[in-house]
Amino acid sequence: MSEDLHILCTDRDGVTHNLPAIDGWRIMEIIRDNGLPIKAECGGALECATCHVYVAPAWLDKLVEKRDEEDEKLDEAFMVKRNSRLSCQILMSDELNGLEVTLAPEG
Ligand code: FES
Repeated sequence: MSEDLHILCTDRDGVTHNLPAIDGWRIMEIIRDNGLPIKAECGGALECATCHVYVAPAWLDKLVEKRDEEDEKLDEAFMVKRNSRLSCQILMSDELNGLEVTLAPEG
């Protein structure tokens, strides 16, 4: 069952927030709807790269691999790292309960 799902999101001040999450929602939506400052200008259409987050290394293998389109769009993001992802391309699931992400700096 997908009760009590949550993710941990660290904001740009270094404060970590425990956010309730819903199965099937985009991680971007979970962050945004909980009031954290993520721009996500394109609303998840893979056109803006302003939903950029860093995923804690321990979680990287649990994520669905990046599609080429995500990789290409990430090239436009600011301060891209090996663990960079666009959070609109990650869907919440039981497997990702407790996922740890950090908001990337805004360009
Ligand atoms: S919200 Fe625009 S690319 Fe993710």
